[in-house]
Amino acid sequence: CNYLVERSRGEIVDTLVEGLQRLEYRGYDSTGIAIDGDEPDSTLIYRQIGKVSALIKEIESKNPNRDVTFVSHCGIAHTRWATHGEPKQINCHPQRSDPNNDFVIVHNGIITNFRELKTLLQNKGYKFESDTDTECIAKLFKHIYDTNLTNGVELDFHELTKLVLLELEGSYGLLCKSSHYPGEVIATRKGSPLLIGVKSERKLKVDFVDVEFADENIGQPETPLVENNNALSTKQRNFTEQQGESTLLPIAANEFNLRHSQSRAFLSEDGAPNPIEFFLSSDASSVVKHTKKVLFLEDDDIAHIYDGELHIHRSRREVGASMTRSIQTLEMELAQIMKGPYTHFMQKEIFEQPESTFNTMRGRIDFDNNSVMLGGLKAWLPAIRRARRIIMIACGTSYHSCLGTRAIFEELSEIPVSVELASDFLDRKSPVFRDDICVFVSQSGETADTMLALNYCLERGALTVGIVNAVGSSISRVTHCGVHINAGPEIGVASTKAYTSQYIALVMLALSLSDDRVSKVERRKEIIQGLKRIPGQIKQVLNLESRIKELCDKELKDQKSLLLLGRGYQFASALEGALKIKEISYMHSEGVLAGELKHGVLALVDEDLPIIAFGTRDSLFPKVVSSIEQVTARKGKPIIICNENDEVWKKKCDKINLVKLEVPQTVDCLQGLLNIIPLQLMSYWLAVNKGIDVDFPRNLAKSVTVE
Ligand code: G6P
Repeated sequence: CNYLVERSRGEIVDTLVEGLQRLEYRGYDSTGIAIDGDEPDSTLIYRQIGKVSALIKEIESKNPNRDVTFVSHCGIAHTRWATHGEPKQINCHPQRSDPNNDFVIVHNGIITNFRELKTLLQNKGYKFESDTDTECIAKLFKHIYDTNLTNGVELDFHELTKLVLLELEGSYGLLCKSSHYPGEVIATRKGSPLLIGVKSERKLKVDFVDVEFADENIGQPETPLVENNNALSTKQRNFTEQQGESTLLPIAANEFNLRHSQSRAFLSEDGAPNPIEFFLSSDASSVVKHTKKVLFLEDDDIAHIYDGELHIHRSRREVGASMTRSIQTLEMELAQIMKGPYTHFMQKEIFEQPESTFNTMRGRIDFDNNSVMLGGLKAWLPAIRRARRIIMIACGTSYHSCLGTRAIFEELSEIPVSVELASDFLDRKSPVFRDDICVFVSQSGETADTMLALNYCLERGALTVGIVNAVGSSISRVTHCGVHINAGPEIGVASTKAYTSQYIALVMLALSLSDDRVSKVERRKEIIQGLKRIPGQIKQVLNLESRIKELCDKELKDQKSLLLLGRGYQFASALEGALKIKEISYMHSEGVLAGELKHGVLALVDEDLPIIAFGTRDSLFPKVVSSIEQVTARKGKPIIICNENDEVWKKKCDKINLVKLEVPQTVDCLQGLLNIIPLQLMSYWLAVNKGIDVDFPRNLAKSVTVE
């Protein structure tokens, strides 16, 4: 949104399209934008299936006049990952209320009661053109707007939004633009991230926005706008009943008198007209080029932008909610979200690991005094140490980082640790107690399953800890305390550098929990000194790239399936390696606990099945060697990941001509940080060899914000 800043339509389109390109990693099956038309109250929509490049072509083919200028304008855009409705043009966002584009919506998330809403609106004569859940939001906006007009009132845009939100169940991060409210935009969220970048020409009077709320003494509810409230969920009914108000319209138009003097935020310091632009996005990476000043919206916030001002309202009242949204400064640099000399983000992120792992430890570990200080946890450590159990909860790669560090966590903290997949944890409705410590690990901080599990644990009074990469994300804000892993933005759908940084963050947490134990001094010292060497050792492992590329070109080429064997600390490496290979190269791969080999998997082994075995040194080494011997006895030819110059493997591999990939040795509990690197490289090169667009694997998205 620009205000008092002259922008041509061409510039507006380019800004939106470029923003979409930065967000493409979050979803890439269709895209679209909505901008002002030539008439003051008209809206143009351009949409296309496929990537942003297809949208650019679509806009070019429609040839809108790029030279028209606007001093006040709001445009919205979306890149989609289909949940409801297959990727086809009619299902792309923006979705609209009617052929005149009165209300246009872009939406992340899922409206779970959309079928009921659709039936209700169809009964009122609305014709639906898409299969999406989002279209019912646009039509609901129009319906409530029109119904009010017949009552003789034009609602403020945010008041209208409140009424719409009362009808919606599910999750959303949504933007709405309307030809009835030219130059205005609404942004609201529930369970889906949204932030607002602020770029102001003059110094701002304040660097925060007070939430505006209704004065309860003013105004009474009007007659319900929608007579038929079949669409109302039980939850919403309960909510309105709790408020002691009538069914569908608990908020009256005149209720919105402002109470806070600072709420007219973003006037310039000297009160002069302030040329200002707002950049709204679900992800900071699309905003950072324009401004580093951002404000994160919270669930149930309704941001209303008009006349260069940003106002924040609440869609529901609750006691104790924070009433100020401060502008924060992003630490992200533009270079961090560019590919640089690399072909893919994934490749760049693999090669960034010497630096990203260092950044996770930077300022937190004192290598001279063998101490660890995690600022975000300091006040909470005594409570965590008293816990009777710790539950780690995550999905995908983040779950593997928990598995990989569980043993050292238990060893150092002497507290039992269970590791849970968020969806399964919720499916089982696992018991959680007030004295439990629940640790939520997530790169994006937005994964719906993890977030739901977090809410579940909060409701049960547990102490929650977040281990998160994305600053300002939902998980980092909702947990009681936590650690940012500081790996920098991760764009590649297959998580790489987040894994190694999460792993280190969890080890640092375990170290912090044990720093009062004399019995652990030597072990802690060994681990801390081991961590110091990790970035350099990762660099060394990355030198294996050409060797691994060669393996992918020859031995592993055209293979259909791959087994990865690991035991102890290396079971997590086997699972994570298999996941990397599956998601990027589409080759079936399976991580197997080496101890379980004889209980079934051995039946698969023959001279053709490719196998990778983790044979690095730790206390389980003899058992691992014996498992691998079971494989070679069945004519299997595993590729061995072992430590440099390991005599045992040298002899065995030379004897039967096995391939080895040598990695440096580190402390047992840190070895997984090095062992995973060859697998990351392998998955990358297997995919590249097959011509797969590594950063956009089919059917997967980076941030899964739906259940
Ligand atoms: C998706 C991604 C995975 C990721 C998982 C958990 O499935 O494709 O790469 O590991 O979500 O994401 P999170 O952001 O919570 O770590």
